[in-house]
Amino acid sequence: MQFKDIQALATHDMDGVNRHIRSQLHSDVVLIRQMAEYIIGSGGKRLRPVLAVLSARACGYQGEAHTATAAVIEFIHTATLLHDDVVDASDLRRGKETANSIWGNEASVLVGDFIFSRAFQMMVEIADLRVMEILSKASNTIAEGEVLQLMNCNDPETTQARYMEVIRFKTAKLFEAATQVGAVLAQKTARLETDVAAYGMHLGTAFQLIDDVLDYRADSDTIGKNVGDDLAEGKPTLPIIFALSKGNPEQTAHLSEVIKQGDRDQLESVIDIIQATGAVEFTEQVALAEAEQAKHKLADLEDSEYKTAMVALADFSVSRLY
Ligand code: IPE
Ligand code: IPE
Ligand code: MG
Ligand code: MG
Repeated sequence: MQFKDIQALATHDMDGVNRHIRSQLHSDVVLIRQMAEYIIGSGGKRLRPVLAVLSARACGYQGEAHTATAAVIEFIHTATLLHDDVVDASDLRRGKETANSIWGNEASVLVGDFIFSRAFQMMVEIADLRVMEILSKASNTIAEGEVLQLMNCNDPETTQARYMEVIRFKTAKLFEAATQVGAVLAQKTARLETDVAAYGMHLGTAFQLIDDVLDYRADSDTIGKNVGDDLAEGKPTLPIIFALSKGNPEQTAHLSEVIKQGDRDQLESVIDIIQATGAVEFTEQVALAEAEQAKHKLADLEDSEYKTAMVALADFSVSRLY
């Protein structure tokens, strides 16, 4: 099952999700409408809402609240991207100029806040206290993850454990929330809810590990983002952490200096060291192991085409090129 087949399976639900998204972009403030429509209209994979609706369906959910819930999740994701591109000084996203490079950092932060608070208004409409609990906790954790990451920036001593904590918080938590709410809406047992949540957490971890590989080896036309953004910010991601531990003294000294400075101009020399030390292969292995754990967590879920799609999504999170 390819990503497009998974999307096809979720088409009907995702049409509903996209209707919710569209209907919630309104504001009397022109700049908000312009920017919100720009970022939402530029697409993206819609992976988190797809996961939420697939999880709900795989858990046998027959109601309708899953599409509005999935729209809330995409709003939370979108708000974090607006903020993230300011923090990372990124100027390309989804194949287009970022909102911050067009309208500036101030506007991006403020419109991010608008989208984020709109997500909370939508959540109140859904009026499910467990869903609110899970999504508000996830939002809070994402913020912690981004701040933890900021504290690791320019620090070549960052350990793999500290890095893993950052990606669990900033990325995997929202994947976990997306799959967990599916089980909550379907009123599955606490045990199954925990398993489905853990599936999302492992999948999200794999997804960010590969994102961090792609930042060194992707083609920016394919990912729709600039490569080298992480290096420019001095972010010690796993490819760097591993290369630092395996490089010879000269390579280690060089990497350490580049991380301290955050120097995009050293991208080629850093890629050479990453290649020479096998850091990409190592990071991919860690991602693969996370994806395998994700799949194991679905063992007790009844077989269905939705479950098959969830298994395939775990594979996609590792094999993806964009
Ligand atoms: C980007 O997420 C942020 C990360 C957690 C790496 P996606 O790769 O899902 O972004 P879009 O929504 O498809 O653009
Ligand atoms: C993911 O990290 C950001 C969030 C979870 C908000 P990145 O900074 O690697 O994401 P991209 O590469 O900008 O999409
Ligand atoms: Mg970023
Ligand atoms: Mg990235």
